[in-house]
Amino acid sequence: MREAELAVRVDRIGNLIGLWDPAGSGSRPVMMGSHIDTVIDAGAYDGCTGVLAGLSVIEALRDEAGRMPTRPLALAAFTNEEGVRYAPDMMGSLVYAGGLPVEAALATVGTDGTVLGEELARIGYAGPEAPGFLRPHAYVELHVEQGPVLEREGIAIGAVEDLQGISWQEVTIDGTANHAGTTPMALRRDAGVAAALLVAWLRERARTGGSLATIGRLRLEPDAINVIPARAILTIDLRDPDAARLSGFEADLAARLDVLAREEEVTVTARRLARFDPVTFDAGIVRAIEAAARARGLSVRRMTSGAGHDAQMMARLCPAAMIFVPSIGGISHNPAERTLDVDLVAGAEVLLDVVRGLSVGRSSFSPAP
Ligand code: GLV
Ligand code: MN
Ligand code: MN
Repeated sequence: MREAELAVRVDRIGNLIGLWDPAGSGSRPVMMGSHIDTVIDAGAYDGCTGVLAGLSVIEALRDEAGRMPTRPLALAAFTNEEGVRYAPDMMGSLVYAGGLPVEAALATVGTDGTVLGEELARIGYAGPEAPGFLRPHAYVELHVEQGPVLEREGIAIGAVEDLQGISWQEVTIDGTANHAGTTPMALRRDAGVAAALLVAWLRERARTGGSLATIGRLRLEPDAINVIPARAILTIDLRDPDAARLSGFEADLAARLDVLAREEEVTVTARRLARFDPVTFDAGIVRAIEAAARARGLSVRRMTSGAGHDAQMMARLCPAAMIFVPSIGGISHNPAERTLDVDLVAGAEVLLDVVRGLSVGRSSFSPAP
């Protein structure tokens, strides 16, 4: 960003923001961005694509002699989009948009027992700026789809019009450790069996209800071959584009936990880690993405994002939308994640056109309040 002559600032939650304001107008910028943190054993494209493409867009517009945008452009790399180590996900953009107090975010204890604020200071990213210090005129994020739809349909560009709701909980099941050889089956309080029953119920409920459920972490204690598990700790990720269906799933889960506790004679406690309603993106920017793709001869379709993204938080601050490009084999959150160069370039060109339109005020979209 410094090489591209952006004014780079870091805020208190570690969001990294570069501003290009060649006319020194000081007016609200058109912001691009995404994230550069990753999940464990990640791919290279999730997040980095949007940040690097945004930088390329600014460099391209800077090189268009005599065609200065009337609005400044900004590029953001938001902190902790994944939320793997510190919940919730999209934390940097959530704080930026005012959805979580910065002090609460900095006090978050990670899965490894570290405190986020201390870790940001340790790596030199506890910046001085107040989150939200630069209020955007609009926000556009390019991202790899991370799913199979575009590739399967042979379509180059996704114009993302909405994003599904996300519910994260951590469930702890407490039973009694006992001897595997001497304790009759009927007399056990087995936290591991209770966890397994819950996992099977979640899959069935997701399939019949049309939602998604993932148990990404499951830990047993004391974790020994001949000891009945005294404790099981598991995470539950529920998703649905329909707000009422997501709430219904959560209510059924709460009821199921009560039944499980009774039937298996275990104690069950649930802790909420993240909860975000579905988001609808700005219709004008979505239309601008479709128009930009068609003008470049690229096939385009509207779609719903299955993943969470910083754009969903920025949509609280200003008109926002997203551009998707195909993921090979629909693989993501996996080192095998890949997108063809030709698709990355096409996405960056659509981003360029949409941002250029927004920066000169040509695109029709609902202005920020
Ligand atoms: C973030 O990548 C999420 O959707 O979990
Ligand atoms: Mn991402
Ligand atoms: Mn991700």
